[in-house]
Formats: sequence, C-alpha cells, structure tokens
Amino acid sequence: MSKQTVLMTSVGAYLPANVVTNEDLSAYVDTSDEWIQRRTGITQRHFVADGETTADLASHAANQALANAAMQPKDIDLIIVATTTPDNTFPSTATKVQHQIGATGAIAFDVQAVCAGFIYAVDVAEAMLRGGRGRRALVIGAESFSKLLDWQDRTTCVLFGDGAGAVILEITDEASDWGIRSSVLHADGAHRDILYVDGGPSSTNDVGHVRMEGKEVFRHAVEKLAAVMDEALAAADMQPQDIDWLVPHQANIRIIDAMQKKMQLPSEKVIRTVAAHANTSAASIPLALATAVGDGRVQNGDLLAMEAIGGGLVWGAALVKFGRPS
Ligand code: ACO
Repeated sequence: MSKQTVLMTSVGAYLPANVVTNEDLSAYVDTSDEWIQRRTGITQRHFVADGETTADLASHAANQALANAAMQPKDIDLIIVATTTPDNTFPSTATKVQHQIGATGAIAFDVQAVCAGFIYAVDVAEAMLRGGRGRRALVIGAESFSKLLDWQDRTTCVLFGDGAGAVILEITDEASDWGIRSSVLHADGAHRDILYVDGGPSSTNDVGHVRMEGKEVFRHAVEKLAAVMDEALAAADMQPQDIDWLVPHQANIRIIDAMQKKMQLPSEKVIRTVAAHANTSAASIPLALATAVGDGRVQNGDLLAMEAIGGGLVWGAALVKFGRPS
C-alpha cells in the first residue's frame, strides 16, 4: 500500500436559479413532458442567466466546498476545472476561478473530457498530489451546456442542464484505506462521430452544437461503464457489495438503472439526480454527491463508486472512501 493517502474531504455545488421544466420546453420545442420523462427520467433542468458563466458557477461551488471544509482559498495548491463549456477559448476557466475565489497560490488549468471530465480531473489531481505538486486540490466540474444546444434538434436539446460541483482532495502522509482507492480511465477516438459538437476554433471558427446518435451512445454507455466499474473494483480488490453508494454520471435514468442491475445493487444505494438536474456533463457527479451529502445519505467513511462516459469516447470509474478518518 502507498505510504500516502489522497482523501476526498469536502464537496460543494451550485445550480443557477433559472429552472426550466419539461412543460416550459414544450412551449418552443416539439416535445412533451411524457416523452422526456419516459425516455430519460428528466423533469426539469437549470439554465444560466444572461451574463452568468461557467466560471461563475464553478466559483460558487468551489466556495461552498471550501466553506464545508473550513478552509481558506490560500490553502489550495491546485485547481482543475473539468468543462466542455469554458467562458473563453483561452484563458482557462480554472484561472478565472482561481482569481474569483482568491486562491492566489494555486496553479490552475482545465481538463476537457466532456461527461467523463470529473473522473478524469480527479485522476489527474490525484497523480499531481502524489507527484508532489501540492497538498490540496480543488477539482470542479462546471458546465453551461445550454450554450451548446440546438433548439431545432429535439433529440438533444431536452437532455442537458447547467450547474457545477466541486470537491477538495487532500494528500496525507499516512497509508490508509480512505480516499481514492482506485481510478481507471479509457478513451477510444474511433467513436467520435456518435457524440460531438459540430464546431470549434480550428474547424469552423464557431462554437457549434451538440450532435448525437442516442441509441449508439446508449449501447456503448452500458457496456463500457459496466466493464470499467469491474476494472475499478478489481484494482481496489473489492466487490460490488462493498459499495455504499453508486454516484453515477447523470445522463439518463435508463443508463443508471441498467448499471444498478449489472452491478446487482439495491436501488436505494444509487444516487439519482437526473430528474432535477438533467445531464450537466462534467458537473453531474459532484452535483449528485453534494446532493447526497447535503441530505445526509452519504456519510463520512462511505465507499463511493463513481462512473461516467462522454464524447470521444472517453470513460472511467473511481472508488473513493469519502471524508476524513477521525
Ligand atoms: N420529444 C418527443 N419525441 C422525440 C424527442 C423528443 N424530445 N426526441 C426524439 N423523439 C422521437 C423521435 O423522433 C422518434 O420518433 P419516430 O419513432 O416517429 O421516428 C422517437 O421519439 C424515438 O426516437 P429515438 O431516438 O429512437 O429514441 P430513443 O428511445 O433512442 O431515446 C434518447 C432517445 C433518450 C436520446 C436515448 O437514445 C438515450 O438515452 N441515449 C443515451 C444518450 C444520452 O443519454 N446522451 C446524453 C449525452 S452522452 C452522455 O452523457 C453519456
């Protein structure tokens, strides 16, 4: 066992005030509350207001995570923002967050792995902490995904929402079975055409919109998430029965339910927030975690299983014993 432990000690979240229900969407998109709920489990989503940006959402979530940990911004050495919807092509959203929250001593950069961004960013932050790049990291998933939606494409525009979640990772010099127990990442660029944005600085010189072959994404999601979760469990020498909570990426209730069945977990061990948040891409796992910590379901010392897949394709899973040994 490594002589160090990377703990996940705190979580924070932020949702923009503007709530848009399926009924609201039906006023300008050819869809219905019944269709959206039956195919996705979504009932509403939050959208940013005019002038509100991804960095603003991320900073709110980061400040809440700091407050929950009774830490100051100066305690943070590293900020990684996982996002597909940065405020600008450059500089990074993370540097804007660093300035907004006053974490003047932190290095800062973004990670782009779409819906798997949070899992990727946690893995990168853990490696950097173990490599001596600091003692405490803020890992934030933040998205204004509404900015990428094509309101003429009802097969995608009903699926997504905006929001942010943040966790604090801390390295300690004692070996323990707390914190990040395992983390597994994958990528396969051969599948880029089933889920992508049709714009970008070097191709079209504009932002573009989300394009997706939903059935194909669904098929890959269930198969790849089940396999990567098996890998993460094997790497930690654990079984599904050891998991206290599955905290999955919140893309679609049917993908989440399929994972629950494949892992043979009781339904009450699965955190589901897709109904209220929709798919917030990189923000969805820390938002779900913050919800479950906030309502008292996730407790200090609980074992969390997290998994996500996104455009690329990119996917991964992490097992974390949450909190801090007393
Ligand atoms: N409202 C009403 N009808 C709709 C809508 C809508 N918003 N969207 C599609 N339809 C219609 C279609 O036109 C089609 O009609 P037709 O039968 O007359 O041709 C019918 O509904 C069925 O369409 P499908 O695309 O076959 O619907 P499907 O059952 O595959 O559900 C969905 C679509 C929900 C996107 C599903 O494929 C899915 O969940 N895929 C997973 C992808 C996902 O969750 N992506 C999120 C981003 S990626 C990620 O985070 C992992």
